[in-house]
Amino acid sequence: MATAISASPGSERDRLALVRTDLLRSSAWIDGAWIAGDRTIEVRNPATGGVLGTVPDLGAEETRRAVAAAERALPEWKARTARERGVILMRWHALVIAHIVDLARLLTAEQGKPVAEARGEIGYGASFLEWFAEEGKRAYGEIIPGHQRDKRLIVLAEPVGVVGAITPWNFPMAMITRKVAPALAAGCTVVLKPSELTPYSALALAVLAEEAGVPAGVFNVVTGAPHAIGEVLTTDPRVRKFTFTGSTAVGKLLAARCMSTVKRVSLELGGNAPFLVFDDADVAAAVDGIMTSKFRNAGQTCVSANRIYVQRGVYDAVAERLATRAGALRVGDGLTGATDHGPLINDAAFAKVARHVDDALAAGARALTGGGRHALGGTFFAPTVLADVRADAVLTREETFGPVAALIPFDTEAEAIALANASPAGLAAYAYTNDLARSWRLAHAIDVGMLGLNSGMVSSEVAPFGGTKESGIGREGSRHGLDEFLERRLVVIGGVTS
Ligand code: SIN
Repeated sequence: MATAISASPGSERDRLALVRTDLLRSSAWIDGAWIAGDRTIEVRNPATGGVLGTVPDLGAEETRRAVAAAERALPEWKARTARERGVILMRWHALVIAHIVDLARLLTAEQGKPVAEARGEIGYGASFLEWFAEEGKRAYGEIIPGHQRDKRLIVLAEPVGVVGAITPWNFPMAMITRKVAPALAAGCTVVLKPSELTPYSALALAVLAEEAGVPAGVFNVVTGAPHAIGEVLTTDPRVRKFTFTGSTAVGKLLAARCMSTVKRVSLELGGNAPFLVFDDADVAAAVDGIMTSKFRNAGQTCVSANRIYVQRGVYDAVAERLATRAGALRVGDGLTGATDHGPLINDAAFAKVARHVDDALAAGARALTGGGRHALGGTFFAPTVLADVRADAVLTREETFGPVAALIPFDTEAEAIALANASPAGLAAYAYTNDLARSWRLAHAIDVGMLGLNSGMVSSEVAPFGGTKESGIGREGSRHGLDEFLERRLVVIGGVTS
């Protein structure tokens, strides 16, 4: 990667995070060229509020250009063998790993998570490149025994075509590769709109994609405000597949627009994960699981525990241990080494978390630790544990997306299952128990896409990620993630005489 430090209004430390990423020239990546725009958007570091730089605020015209480029690039890209595409994805993977230190600092500068956690995200993101480089070779078709004597039926697995993708700010790197790697492996081409809050990780990925040999037009990054770009990606008939990670409200609107041209759609939307701790659980392990699930990325994770239901026999022990652990988290600027917990992304995120906490406290909950803004100010929210939250508190109905562990007591397994399922969201859930039969009952009864049993983490490149109910459509990662970018084409061969 080229070294590019130029005058920027950000602090010296902010600029350091951008070293060797070649991004301060404020460009988007369309058809193998860096494109400037008439207007720009400022990108800020959520820890300091400082401006890191700008990116072009592109609109419908540039998005249509990117779609045209992706359409032009498609025939040659899909004609390659899966192995040829896989070799390029593997080179991209190697480059991401080779630049992990810089990429992590860049990600932290624009997103806020501690740099060690950002390194984890880069590794996680890279794993999708590696996985789908291999999995693309297994895009098998089928041969079906003919239904008439002279007929032979073959089902081909064909790439869907041009893909439009919109990705969020909470995982600015991994949510891109989780979509783009399977799309490219399948033989599709992509127009990506990254979050306008965290576009630099996407542009850094484009720098490395070019270096890896991804041809012009195969992967395009259009930066800018969501409306105009999203309109093209969801309505242009040349885009045959649309994939989105973000809120349920926005996902519903985008999916409805996609139906005007009947696109294939994958949606990875909001969660409201229940976390159940039963009396027979290992309390220390359960608290470890809550810490992982709840405080990863300061709670700004769609699979974060949002409602923690604890059986009365272990309720006090869980509450006490969890408050001690959460209270010991080191809050600060993620670019400094000794930080476990960064800021929230912006003021709107902070206001929502504060509203949820205030609502719970007003209804009688007790803050065992935290409960409001951290002494650092800005958008730093103190890691919070609330005890005796009412089962009808706002935070049981809405996804908090912040560092608030809300404890609610329960008595019976049936009650816990009913509480867990009492949500239109169905992304992830967690349960801690040492009863094998109960584990199986929960696995069948809790209506979610992903259940962590004695595990606070459900995500990996080898496993299908996605939700039921209003948490989404489709799966990402694993062999199922490749299928989202393949069409099944039936070929019926007649006149086969013996
Ligand atoms: C997300 O929050 O959208 C993704 C989290 C994960 O992949 O674990």
